[in-house]
Amino acid sequence: MNAKSDYIAVFDSGVGGISVLRELIKLLPNENYLYFGDSANAPYGEKTTEEVRQLTLAAVENLMDQNIKALVVACNTATSAAIHVLRERYPDSIIVGIEPALKVAADRFPGKRVGVMATPVTLREEKFHHQLDRFPHMQVSTIPVTGLVELIEAGGSMAEAETLLRPQLSPYIGKLDAVVLGCTHYPFAAKAISRILGPDTVLLDGGAGTARETKRRLEEADLLCDGAGEIRMENSLSDPEILLRSMELLK
Ligand code: DGL
Repeated sequence: MNAKSDYIAVFDSGVGGISVLRELIKLLPNENYLYFGDSANAPYGEKTTEEVRQLTLAAVENLMDQNIKALVVACNTATSAAIHVLRERYPDSIIVGIEPALKVAADRFPGKRVGVMATPVTLREEKFHHQLDRFPHMQVSTIPVTGLVELIEAGGSMAEAETLLRPQLSPYIGKLDAVVLGCTHYPFAAKAISRILGPDTVLLDGGAGTARETKRRLEEADLLCDGAGEIRMENSLSDPEILLRSMELLK
């Protein structure tokens, strides 16, 4: 890649951010994308905040060295632990971070019962609690999920996801109007989640909103491009399987 790259970098702890990349491509098909998944270090969601911050800074430094035109942190966990540090370190860069889609939930389900499924790091960070404070009238149940990121990283099936999630989600059956998928890996298990919670619980995620915000920031900076829509997939795992799986998830 040359010094004048016009790539939008999309970063996640692993393959989850591909759910956001899909939304970006839908909205901005002529942009060029560089996707980096840190699968060698996934999952981030059960590490200490400092560990997540250091891993995120290292990955982003590598992306910034490629002179990208914008960075999308397509990982709720990395956003909650590190977005402020990234903005301080790279004040002149366009940096968009995904966060749980609470606003979408508040707009569509005012006063209703909303669950937020996310990693333990996202749910314990101050950023999430500030976000919750903005919607005092929403009845929110926080649902820390374990094991699902690892399963999706490993290419697990929908049946395996259902088996893993059933004990974690069964206390909420019939009790929620909507569930926010606050981790970018979870949309890949949406069918299993819906099978458990039933068709009346609407699933929401922040992918489309993040894509819209990216478009808005690029427009504002006059940086939208009419390119070839190239997609480069990179991963910290040296196993070529992970790149094949990444391309599969993009479909
Ligand atoms: N995909 C990431 C998120 O949105 C977290 C996955 C992980 O635990 O590594 O939170």
